[in-house]
Amino acid sequence: MEITNVSEYENVAKQKLPKMVFDYYASGAEDQWTLQENRNAFSRILFRPRILIDVSKIDMTTTVLGFKISMPIMIAPTAMQKMAHPEGEYATARAASAAGTIMTLSSWATSSVEEVASTGPGIRFFQLYVYKDRNVVAQLVRRAEKAGFKAIALTVDTPRLGRREADIKNRFVLPPFLTLKNFEGLDLGKMDQANDSGLASYVAGQIDRTLSWKDVKWLQTITSLPILVKGVLTAEDTRLAVQSGAAGIIVSNHGARQLDYVPATISALEEVVKAAQGRVPVFLDGGVRRGTDVFKALALGASGIFIGRPVVYSLAAEGEVGVRKVLQMLREEFEMTMTLSGCRSLKEITREHITADWDTPRTHPRALPRL
Ligand code: FNR
Repeated sequence: MEITNVSEYENVAKQKLPKMVFDYYASGAEDQWTLQENRNAFSRILFRPRILIDVSKIDMTTTVLGFKISMPIMIAPTAMQKMAHPEGEYATARAASAAGTIMTLSSWATSSVEEVASTGPGIRFFQLYVYKDRNVVAQLVRRAEKAGFKAIALTVDTPRLGRREADIKNRFVLPPFLTLKNFEGLDLGKMDQANDSGLASYVAGQIDRTLSWKDVKWLQTITSLPILVKGVLTAEDTRLAVQSGAAGIIVSNHGARQLDYVPATISALEEVVKAAQGRVPVFLDGGVRRGTDVFKALALGASGIFIGRPVVYSLAAEGEVGVRKVLQMLREEFEMTMTLSGCRSLKEITREHITADWDTPRTHPRALPRL
């Protein structure tokens, strides 16, 4: 059957992948309330389109940390992509590059920073998990820098791995023919089978739970790359991130895989944007599956969005071709949304182009007064 939207890849992936792998990609934490909410919250934001504007030319280009890209749609870090397809992160890197956008490589990739760099030119960010052994971190950051990665996305929502019950039931572990390639030479590339999720045990053993704001400053002493703080959901932490020298903020709840019952990222976005006061760009990931979602995020002040699961699902279905299609479909839908709401460039997308359920009744009447 022909695929006509991004969400349809999920079912194809489910049919193709071993249950343990699909469940790892798909699952959220505990009750998976936030997982649903990441999608549902988008549906409570409606458009206020403007008409009779010459929309014969639509410009979707933008600049992220000084890098020009073709559209505000980028690729979030998702771990272990070779479980989805033999070409894994290589395929994702090539697809992102062909689409003229940014790929973020996970610390826990099954391809190393050097291998991904060798796929050819492209603007790439490196996602960092901070290990207890800071020499490991320093070495990895240096390697990413040397391999031409342009920014560090520091993930701050994972002092422990969230409870993903499917992974616990499946005794999830990285298949033995794969390694966390960035850590291969450091003897940290393998994951032991555990009595629950092998990844949860790996995190408990290796990831530094003491990580705090002072480490965001420490990171700046070991690299000149800009740092994006990934996993911010509140105004308070936005202010601290700015004070700590972050170059940008990613509003993220880790695809609803960490703390359950946090709000959808699209619901938390405006609070963060207001607190950032334009000092740093704010990005969003979580539940973006349609061009309309991209538009809504930009209307609420995001400078761009990242997609996670659609990449691993389309990889599983069709490899590089699949990821290219996902990026192309989102691009076309976003262009359609801009056209039909009367916005010719990203700067023309404003808060007035949408109405959210938390807005005043003036623009969103819920009930008529009884006479
Ligand atoms: C992730 N995410 C993630 N984040 C991170 O900082 N490092 C990582 O290694 C991973 N790995 C990972 C694996 C899988 C299978 C998923 C689904 C997610 C989180 C990811 O970067 C992003 O925040 C979410 O995936 C965005 O939500 P959607 O687009 O998946 O709904």
